[in-house]
Amino acid sequence: MQISGNRSPDKQIIRKMLGYGAGPEIVELVVLEEVASTSDYLLQRARFPVPGFYVCLAASQSAGKGRRSNKAWHSPNNGNLYLSVLYHGDDLQTARYGWLPLVVAVEVVTVLAGVCGTRGFGVKWPNDIYWGQGKLGGVLVESKRDRCVVGLGLNVYPPVSAACQPGFAWAALSELCAGRSGIDFFRQERLVASMILAVLRAFNRVGCEEEGALADDWRRYDLLANREVKVLTAAGEYAGVARGIDRNGRLRVEHTGGGTRVYHSGEVSVRW
Ligand code: BTN
Repeated sequence: MQISGNRSPDKQIIRKMLGYGAGPEIVELVVLEEVASTSDYLLQRARFPVPGFYVCLAASQSAGKGRRSNKAWHSPNNGNLYLSVLYHGDDLQTARYGWLPLVVAVEVVTVLAGVCGTRGFGVKWPNDIYWGQGKLGGVLVESKRDRCVVGLGLNVYPPVSAACQPGFAWAALSELCAGRSGIDFFRQERLVASMILAVLRAFNRVGCEEEGALADDWRRYDLLANREVKVLTAAGEYAGVARGIDRNGRLRVEHTGGGTRVYHSGEVSVRW
């Protein structure tokens, strides 16, 4: 099903939808037909005229990046969302940025759940956005010196079979909201504007909210809580039961062989 067509989202409409509230915070908004990666586009920029948020959106990516270094993010021009928001400033709170992928994921599912009026949205530590058993999107956070970029990929339409990894379940917004009033929302500009605002809120929350409040929100959507998981690290594979997150947003796992360990998102991937 193709709802919105393949035209690029209109920058002026997005600006209008962002409203005056977010206007001043966003220094620049770039909309491209194609780019290697929206996150690299922003990260590789030589200079930023002023501190603030810089946004890049593309209709397709030729080298979209997933969280794991060897994983590409398949990014055809089919109406899916490929969005990056960079913050530049000398007040980067890098110590707290372990929280950023988690809080972005929570803010995104909160918006989508509100629009779709449906249950079934969840987050899989640290950066996956799910609906039911299918992955709906992912968040990739990267930082470098005075800049930190959040990349968000969301499936608006299902992937064509050739691009699917065998055995991997995907979800797409067009399918889960089909026939519901929320479907109009997924016409490009509205979705884009609400996702930009979700990312800005996440930056703000990570900058000023207490860890307890961030963790409480995460718990509302945490798909791994009390589930058996396998943690894949460079040193090996470990089985256990996921027991939520600690005050730094790290995953807590009670291991089958005894003992509990916490894992930082940079070092592992989790199977369930
Ligand atoms: C993941 O689940 O592995 C994270 C995927 C992140 C994909 C987005 S799409 C926009 C931005 N640009 C990229 O190259 N990657 C992120």
